[in-house]
Amino acid sequence: MFLIHPRRYIREFKNWREIYNLKRQAKKYGVQLQIGSGVRLVGCTIRENLENRITSYINTTLIIGDYCFLKYASFSFCGDNSTIHLGEDIHINGGEKGRTSFLAGANSSIVVGNDCLFSSNIRFWTTDFHPVLDMDGNVVNRNKDVHIGEHVWVGMNVFISKGVTIAKNSIVGAFSVVTKSFNEENVVIAGNPAMVRKNGITWEEHVEGWDQLIQS
Ligand SMILES: CC(C)(COP(=O)(O)OP(=O)(O)OC[C@H]1O[C@@H](n2cnc3c(N)ncnc32)[C@H](O)[C@@H]1OP(=O)(O)O)[C@@H](O)C(=O)NCCC(=O)NCCS
Repeated sequence: MFLIHPRRYIREFKNWREIYNLKRQAKKYGVQLQIGSGVRLVGCTIRENLENRITSYINTTLIIGDYCFLKYASFSFCGDNSTIHLGEDIHINGGEKGRTSFLAGANSSIVVGNDCLFSSNIRFWTTDFHPVLDMDGNVVNRNKDVHIGEHVWVGMNVFISKGVTIAKNSIVGAFSVVTKSFNEENVVIAGNPAMVRKNGITWEEHVEGWDQLIQS
């Protein structure tokens, strides 16, 4: 006998299975995984790196904050001492064929503030994955942390490169390539390379009467 409504039961069972799968993948790749309460997952994966080789790195951590709702997000590590930390209440709306992915290279982290909204096919990378060398053989493209402030909306098909900081309450326009940090809050950043297109803005995921508003 169902103690709760059968549809809710099925949904909760599916979520339980998704969380179990993520934990299993974390174990396989030696990733320390912390999942907050009230987290909902759909089709999320941990991959060890882009080449899908099975090698574990030392000290890799994935933290998913309370009440995140993540659809088709993927998390990859390609070096020791790397962290991906999502704050609370983050909504990722990736697609089955357009995953939103996070790649943390050695000695680097991706930190996302609370209450962000990310669309599909976004890439957050702290590494270029292959070295760029000067003529003396020195690496010139070292891994660097990525910081996304609180309440940032990132549109679809965006690339966020190593070393980028985006300040809170901002929007990143669709198809943008972000290669520099933007420390001014409440801005629209867009284009390739991305630059500030508007300031003094904010955004909401849902607004009462939005359908009527956008038609007026
Ligand atoms: C970022 C966005 C929300 C801004 O909308 P807006 O506030 O109405 O901005 P505007 O259309 O007035 O654009 C302001 C300026 O930025 C430019 N711009 C906006 N989005 C851009 C983009 N993605 N790439 C390049 N330039 C862009 C505009 O051309 C305009 O330039 P101008 O001032 O020289 O004329 C919108 O452009 C966008 O990217 N929407 C897609 C969101 C998305 O991916 N949703 C999926 C569901 S989560």
